[in-house]
Amino acid sequence: MTTKPHYLRLEDFYRDGHIFITGATGFLGKLLLNTLLRKFSDIDTLYILVRERGGVTIEKRIDSLFESVEPNLGISSSDYSLLISKVNIIFHCAATLRFDEELRFAIRTNLGSTQSALNLARKCLQLKCFTYVSTAFSNAYRQQIDEVIYPPKTHYKQLISLSKIESNEDPQYVTARKCLSQENVNTYTLTKAASEQLIQEEAGKIPVAIFRPSIVISTNNEPIPGWIDNLYGPTGVITGFKSGIIRSFHVNAKNKADLVPADWTVNALICSAWHSANR
Ligand SMILES: NC(=O)c1ccc[n+]([C@@H]2O[C@H](COP(=O)([O-])OP(=O)(O)OC[C@H]3O[C@@H](n4cnc5c(N)ncnc54)[C@H](OP(=O)(O)O)[C@@H]3O)[C@@H](O)[C@H]2O)c1
Repeated sequence: MTTKPHYLRLEDFYRDGHIFITGATGFLGKLLLNTLLRKFSDIDTLYILVRERGGVTIEKRIDSLFESVEPNLGISSSDYSLLISKVNIIFHCAATLRFDEELRFAIRTNLGSTQSALNLARKCLQLKCFTYVSTAFSNAYRQQIDEVIYPPKTHYKQLISLSKIESNEDPQYVTARKCLSQENVNTYTLTKAASEQLIQEEAGKIPVAIFRPSIVISTNNEPIPGWIDNLYGPTGVITGFKSGIIRSFHVNAKNKADLVPADWTVNALICSAWHSANR
């Protein structure tokens, strides 16, 4: 009988790590890279997924977006073989965060990429943990959200079939899009919840963590206080107020704003992979 390794300290888990990160060019991905490099001096290699951008026509860019979520995350077969043989920790952060993303595109990007990243993880010979960055709002239609995976009304496999319909005018697509808009709050939350279900059903025996941050705002302290690279959610609103563009805003004063600084988020993400590998 083989004994499962126990990593007493975070340093033990990340030592000699071959870490694959999707979404490394994004807000959280950048900070994850930064934090891993600052805090763990003996990581072996970081592998990051970066897509082509800029200097290409709109049509080509759209094609390449779709290509990048096609089988194997658009990774060449030689790179794929390298990852399978070396990678032992995976953080899947890549996603489209647009709440009003076209359904087909949201499914392909968020659900399709999760399936591809998980397929890669299942082939990695030395995997310690696959961590999927989800969101605290993947089940936002519920009043109470616990640390469980709620089965969506529409199974993720149905969503994948739907995303293969190419025409927006196809009657099946039109009807499904209308029904699905009532099922979860938007195409972002719909596809993030479906990705959790996919992981639950397809992960098999590999060690997996699903990490659900709430609304991530600028850093509290590290690497510098107040760092942020976007105007998502509350940051956009505050920028609007500070610049004088927004003068008033309707709010429900009884609602809580679930905000968390980005450095706290990334620190917890780094710990959750370690914690899951030990469980
Ligand atoms: N920010 C928050 O408040 C928040 C809260 C809860 C959960 N999350 C989750 O955290 C993760 C990271 O979010 P973020 O705030 O860092 O978002 P972000 O800044 O928009 O970054 C998204 C990342 O995904 C990549 N990506 C998007 N579409 C892609 C595609 N079709 N092919 C390849 N790469 C693609 C982007 O690459 P490009 O640079 O090439 O565009 C970028 O690296 C997401 O899974 C999100 O659901 C975020």
